Order: sequence, then C-alpha cells, then structure tokens
Amino acid sequence: MASPITQAILLIGGLGTRLRPLTYQRPKALLPLLNCPLISYEIRLFARHGVTDLIMAVSYGADAIKDELGDGSRWGVRLHYVEEEQRLDTAGAIRNCAALIDGPFFACNGDLVYDVDLTTMAAAHLRQSALVTFCLRRVDDISAYGLIQCDDGGRVTAFKEKVNSDETGRNTVNSGFYAMDPQVLDYIPDNQPYSNETDLFPALLARREPLYGWTDTQPGYWSDVGRIETYLEAHVSLLHGAVSWVKPDDMRTGIHEGAHITEPVAIASGATIAAGCRIGPDVAVGEGCRIDEGAVVRRSMLWPDSVVGAGAHVNETIVASEASVAAHSSHSGEVIVPSDA
Ligand code: GDD
Ligand code: MG
Repeated sequence: MASPITQAILLIGGLGTRLRPLTYQRPKALLPLLNCPLISYEIRLFARHGVTDLIMAVSYGADAIKDELGDGSRWGVRLHYVEEEQRLDTAGAIRNCAALIDGPFFACNGDLVYDVDLTTMAAAHLRQSALVTFCLRRVDDISAYGLIQCDDGGRVTAFKEKVNSDETGRNTVNSGFYAMDPQVLDYIPDNQPYSNETDLFPALLARREPLYGWTDTQPGYWSDVGRIETYLEAHVSLLHGAVSWVKPDDMRTGIHEGAHITEPVAIASGATIAAGCRIGPDVAVGEGCRIDEGAVVRRSMLWPDSVVGAGAHVNETIVASEASVAAHSSHSGEVIVPSDA
C-alpha cells in the first residue's frame, strides 16, 4: 500500500475532558491500549499506507507526548512536533502546521482507532480535485458526531456538528479523517482558535468549495476513544482481533503457576501475578503491575505500576498508574486513580 499522499497532521492537543480523571495523569494520545499508546494505532495505520511524515499538533501534555513517542523511527515514520502555546482548536492547529506542509495531506483527530484504506481515499481525493475529502461512516446514533450530507455525486451539501437527529433520516457522519489540499490553509486565520467543525467546514460550504465524502467499500474497525465507555470497548475489541494488524503486545513473564489466565489478555513485561489469581478475559496488565494473591480481574485495564491487592475483585474498571486497589475490595465500572486509593 502506497498512498500518493505522504504527509499527515494528527490533532492531539485536546484536553480529553470526557476522560478525566485519567487525562489528568496523561494526555489522551498516551492512554494505554493493549499496553501501547492510543496514538500509536494511527501512527501504525499511516505507516502501513506509506504516509511517512506525521506532524503532531500538540498542546496539552506536549512534553509527555514527545518523550514517549520520540522521533517515530520505531514505527518507520518521521514524527514532527508543532506545539500550540494556547490551544488553537482543530482548524487553528492545522493552520499552525502550514510551514511543514508541501502538498496534499491527511489530517485526523488523534483519538481514533481506525482501520481504513487510506491509499484508496488519497487517490479519490486527488482524482476529484477536492479541497477537502471527508472519510464517512454510518452510525446508529449521530449525536456524538458531525453529520455530513452529500448529493448523489458525493459532493458535501451540509455539515452539522453534534445534532440529535437529521430531518432526512441520514446517519452518515464525519469519521475524523480528512484528505486536504494545501489551499485549505488559506481559509483558516493564523494563530487564533478556529474549529474545523463549527467554523471552517461551514465556511467552505457557504463558498461552495469542492468538498467530497468518501466511503470505504469494506469499512474496517472505527472507534472514537473519547469516553471511558468507548475506551474500554476499544480495548475489548482489539483484544478480540477487531483490527487484523493489531496483535496484543504480550510479554508475560512473572506469572505464578498457580494463577489462572483466561484469554484474551495482554500482559506487559515486569508484571507479576500471584498464586490463586484469576485474570481475564479482556484484561490488559501494564508494565510493572503487581497483582496479589487470589485477586480476580476481568474486562479491565491496569495501567503501568498499579497494584491490585490480595483477594480484590476488579471488573470493567480502569486502574491508573501508581493507583492501588485495596485488598479484598470490590470494584465494578470504576476509574481508580492514585488519590482514590
Ligand atoms: N492540536 C490541537 N489543538 N488538537 C485539538 C484541539 C486543539 O486546540 N482541540 C481538540 N483537539 C484534538 C483532540 O485532541 C482530538 O484528538 C481531536 O482534536 C478531536 O477532538 P474531540 O474533542 O475528540 O472531538 P469529538 O470526538 O467530540 O468530535 C470530532 O470527532 C468526531 C469523530 O470521532 C468531530 O470532528 C466530529 O465531527 C467527528 O464526527
Ligand atoms: Mg473524539
């Protein structure tokens, strides 16, 4: 796969408010998913399609992101960082990367796990001479997304961000992946907050600029990991093989022979699991975690260096780094951060 577009801007400067308190500890882009940072799944998707220069539009948590991702060589891409001192919103962030753009480029929201045919999308974008090509998805409930209406020729006729219903009954939404012509940068004011969804796209539509929708003929897995429920859902789906090229990063070593593991689980290096534990299904155990004797953990994520005390029961719960679950306590549907311990 070799996309004719080789640059992308990844929008990863948001505050991740819907994922608090987890995003007080790390920015959304670095949330562990099968023990790898969330943004690494988009990086790997771009790498698979030969998109080699990824411009990371960072703001909140910028230093932690740079430290963890580095120069991108581990994925075979080059990562460039462009930092906003004050967040510029989704379009302002793209404009802020203009100096690094030298041709048609991809842009995407940075909180998606997506398996999409970027090579074919790029070809369609160039063939149609579109200013913006939107990658579309169908959903049951449009309210969390940007509704996009197109005419029979695929040209976008309306963009409505987060409406509860559509009078035409349509359910085609913005997936958060775009192919853009560099001319789009001329429509975004420099160095001030400006939104793709509520400023740029409506303005381009009003000017009748060529905006097109594109739909993958074989839609792959797609999830906006912007809420606790969708984060947990993506974790379970990936463990069950929802994306063929994602295999759990499993480095299990310190498991007592008297512990019982029910797959699928992903266990990072340096994690210890004591005798009598029952772990799984659908569990990720981060690097350096400690699970004490007789604990039961299912459908949960244990971030690096967290501890589950002896005999505790943990279900559909996320335990953040350095947090401890008290021995013999019981948790279901919770987010546990250090101060809660
Ligand atoms: N650099 C930068 N600067 N990035 C930002 C900023 C900013 O000021 N504000 C938000 N972002 C990034 C977020 O980090 C996230 O990756 C992305 O922009 C989208 O923001 P969200 O807050 O996650 O938007 P949403 O999920 O409510 O809606 C968007 O995504 C849907 C698809 O999942 C919209 O684009 C919808 O139209 C779309 O359907
Ligand atoms: Mg989102």
